[in-house]
Amino acid sequence: MLKTRFTELFGVRHPIVQGGMQWVGRAELTSAVANAGALGFLTALTQPTPDDLVKEIARCREMTDQPFGVNLTILPTLKPVPYEDYIDAALSAGITIMETAGNSPKAFMPKLKAAGVRLIHKCTSVRHGISAEKLGVDCVSMDGFECAGHPGEDDIGNLVLLPAAADAIKIPMIASGGFADGRGLVAALALGCEGINMGTRFMATREAPIHDAVKQRLVDGSERDTSLILRTLHNTARVYGNSVAKKAIAMERAGETIETIGPVVSGRRGKTVYETGDLEAGIWSAGTSMGLIRDVPTCAELVARIVAEAEEIMKRRFGGMTLAAS
Ligand SMILES: Cc1cc2nc3c(=O)[nH]c(=O)nc-3n(C[C@H](O)[C@H](O)[C@H](O)COP(=O)(O)O)c2cc1C
Repeated sequence: MLKTRFTELFGVRHPIVQGGMQWVGRAELTSAVANAGALGFLTALTQPTPDDLVKEIARCREMTDQPFGVNLTILPTLKPVPYEDYIDAALSAGITIMETAGNSPKAFMPKLKAAGVRLIHKCTSVRHGISAEKLGVDCVSMDGFECAGHPGEDDIGNLVLLPAAADAIKIPMIASGGFADGRGLVAALALGCEGINMGTRFMATREAPIHDAVKQRLVDGSERDTSLILRTLHNTARVYGNSVAKKAIAMERAGETIETIGPVVSGRRGKTVYETGDLEAGIWSAGTSMGLIRDVPTCAELVARIVAEAEEIMKRRFGGMTLAAS
């Protein structure tokens, strides 16, 4: 067992998190992660309405009695999102663990604190981590340039980002972006983190509620198969490098704006990919950790394997080094 400040704070067995994932973070996956002893997050905005989120939380509780949370992603959208209503829905359903991402959760802090929520906020830079700590969040999830989804605009990889953040932030921090195995977990601990957050690796699990063709593509793909889109709009996203991503990048280079690029990169089209397995139907998120994914295990197998590998490295490899030196 790897006990850290993170496992203590959130009451989970293993220092591993399944971060929010649009269209993927549903009850099937989150409950399987929870049953595996890690911390899973339902993705609030995958549910069409706050009422649907309440139902999804209930569905998740039918499948697990272990702790899990709700992710709320606060990003620029074409249509306004009733964030507060989603928070109220989660709280009314008894949720006490949340993950926020995108913009600052400042406006919601009084409500979340009053409800006793333990909050993880995802950041992509040291300065945002420091701000989150000042705001009173309980844990920072630091997303490096490797990550699927939104890596920010600074392009700093985790080998520098994580220790730089660890020097500046006192509250527990977890490492996110590029993690897929026990080696990554040990590295994260060495770099000053209390655990890891994974997205792409959890997509390629048996319980992830997405088409098998997507999972197989993650197995077959390499670390070179992602693209960065929306750079020109300062809303960079790392996605699978398919023809739609390439088209969006070409449109950006041609100076087109969100009005014409928006429909190409729409989330609705991405949803079709997960439902039908048509990998070219739209953009879909994937990180460079694709290069480390070689199978589609259950969440229980994956979490147990990562923890066992991490323990093995610490005991046999590092333990052996200490002995050799003394
Ligand atoms: C398919 C997919 C969808 C994602 N959607 C969201 C989201 O809606 N909100 C969010 O905060 N992060 C989202 N992420 C980011 C993950 O929570 C996580 O930070 C990221 O995947 C970590 O990098 P990794 O993929 O290398 O493990 C998504 C990631 C993936 C793979």
